[in-house]
Amino acid sequence: MNISSFLSSITTPRIDDLKKGNIPKHVGIIMDGNGRWASRRKLPRILGHKAGVQSLRQAIATSIKIGVKYLTVFAFSSENWERPKKEVDFLMGLFVDCLNEELDSLNKNGVRIKIIGDRKKSPQKLRDSFRNAESLTSGNSKLVFNIAFNYGSRQEIIKAIKNMYEDAKKNKIEIEKLDEDTFSGYLYTGKTPDPDLIIRTSGEYRISNFMLWQSAYAEYYFTKTLWPDFNTSHYLKAINAYQKRNRRFGKV
Ligand code: IPE
Ligand code: IPE
Ligand code: MG
Repeated sequence: MNISSFLSSITTPRIDDLKKGNIPKHVGIIMDGNGRWASRRKLPRILGHKAGVQSLRQAIATSIKIGVKYLTVFAFSSENWERPKKEVDFLMGLFVDCLNEELDSLNKNGVRIKIIGDRKKSPQKLRDSFRNAESLTSGNSKLVFNIAFNYGSRQEIIKAIKNMYEDAKKNKIEIEKLDEDTFSGYLYTGKTPDPDLIIRTSGEYRISNFMLWQSAYAEYYFTKTLWPDFNTSHYLKAINAYQKRNRRFGKV
């Protein structure tokens, strides 16, 4: 063992050790910093997005390995349409390619894919990939992998209210009896348990319209690491930090 591998072995929490502790059931990731990763290398931004795919693969594999049951990644926000058309078009193509290429392996590993967000605005090819991925993996239960695409939490809340209003008119629900669980059920995340841990990469300390309602009691973990550099050991460090938190939920 050379010095650098020894150093990394003592700073990186080991999976076996982490598994003795409390593993978050639901992890959310705001995968940020692809553009800056590319710019620092004098590369076009789109290559940063491409490089980020490898980090996502590792995050999925590590989630399965340590026993995370739900992984929700912020892939494209409702606000990201405002980016240059070239970048948006590239991202749409990248989503289609990735879904198609990874689908078989995700399915074989027991991953259930779900899309959260308003997919109506997406290109037909991508909508087909979404539908195919969701239907092929619908029977899997090892890990629920939510892809937040054209997702915005405020928009999600407004949509939930509109749908609730329609159901109330049809006497399917009674507004007087509305409680938190019923409301949550109208969100894209439906019956998914609330996230326990939300990770944001790239050194930004904001949540950019991601799971506002759902994250009421989530633990946040911010790291300066840019998304394409975020690997398994970074993820394990985040889990380790989570395990040291004292979650009180308003109690003592
Ligand atoms: C995150 O990386 C990916 C998406 C938002 C689609 P960015 O593209 O936001 O990268 P930065 O923040 O500009 O570095
Ligand atoms: C949040 O990142 C959205 C995704 C990671 C998909 P942004 O880069 O869009 O967020 P801001 O603009 O820095 O708030
Ligand atoms: Mg960004």
